[in-house]
Amino acid sequence: MIPQTSKVKTIGISTGGGDCPGLNAVIRGAVKAAIKNYNWRVIGIEDGFDGLIWPETKSRELKLGDVSGILPRGGTILGTTNRGNPFKYKVRDELGFDSEVDYSQRALDNARQLGIDCMMVIGGDGTQNIGLGLHKRGLPVVGVPKTIDNDLNATDVTFGFDTALHTVTEAVDKIHTTAESHHRIMLVETMGREAGWIALESGIAGGAHVILLPEIPFTIKKICDFVDQRHRSGKKFTIVVVAEGISIPADAQQLFEREKRAAPRAGAIANTIGDAIARCAHREVRVTVLGHIQRGGSPSPFDRVLSTRFGVKAVELIATGQFGHMVALRGEHVIAVDIETACGQVKLVNPEGDLVRTAKAIGVCFGD
Ligand code: F6P
Repeated sequence: MIPQTSKVKTIGISTGGGDCPGLNAVIRGAVKAAIKNYNWRVIGIEDGFDGLIWPETKSRELKLGDVSGILPRGGTILGTTNRGNPFKYKVRDELGFDSEVDYSQRALDNARQLGIDCMMVIGGDGTQNIGLGLHKRGLPVVGVPKTIDNDLNATDVTFGFDTALHTVTEAVDKIHTTAESHHRIMLVETMGREAGWIALESGIAGGAHVILLPEIPFTIKKICDFVDQRHRSGKKFTIVVVAEGISIPADAQQLFEREKRAAPRAGAIANTIGDAIARCAHREVRVTVLGHIQRGGSPSPFDRVLSTRFGVKAVELIATGQFGHMVALRGEHVIAVDIETACGQVKLVNPEGDLVRTAKAIGVCFGD
């Protein structure tokens, strides 16, 4: 471990935003590196930043024993929330009215009272921006990025993504056999927000025939033509992997308008697309929305290694006083990037990129 140049003696660790496999591995890596190499005190801040607002009940010291056995565990031992922004904390009064309170000064005061010299903030864009806000107000912060969506430009890969891919690929494999038996068109919806990475890579890994991404506009007609062609060539089933962030194409909208049907409901967009395909292709369609199963379970070996590297590197950044920075994977190296410039830059699938071209070369249809 590199020698310490900062004056840090106590660090806080929090996990914020949606959870993902690998968070516990980061916590474990960071706690071990902090105690074994620098003899720091580590305080776990629970439920995102809530532990800085209510430290009496939501903060606790993390010793080596507390992180023992957590490497293979999904979720986070510290708990998390995506509603706990101390700058705009949502509260509900006795009459049921919602309002926002600025608890940031209280969070800063509590961090000082706990003796925290630096906070390690593990989270996605939103969480990193809150951390940056606290950093600018005088609490040194170091970031660790996470998301199953793999949509952060600053890092080649985020931990959690690989595990999610395993989960979705296994699901697509299972859907294959039943789709084939019943000669059906089967849709599998993945998470990923406005980025199509999970759908694209699990679609390729699972041998999907159609992959629908937010980054590639498609039509129902193109999909149905493709399905018809498969039938004519003797393939009586089709697997369609659908990213949750796609937009409903114009020809599906027209179909619904013609039938005077209600606008498609929000969420589970594959149901709407499946409906449109069934009407257009006149074939039997079934839809599976994988949902939060993609965020659960034990991290894959790749994610365990990446999480451990991120946790250890974040400790190194604190030891060398590189506050306001976040760890990131670039090529073979874990490096430090400025949180301010790194955040907010979403990484989307390139429709002309290598992965899409590879898929197209083996006959995958993107509906475009
Ligand atoms: O960003 C991770 C993610 O799992 C997205 O893929 C998904 O759209 C979203 O979070 C779901 O969030 P929530 O757990 O709040 O429903």
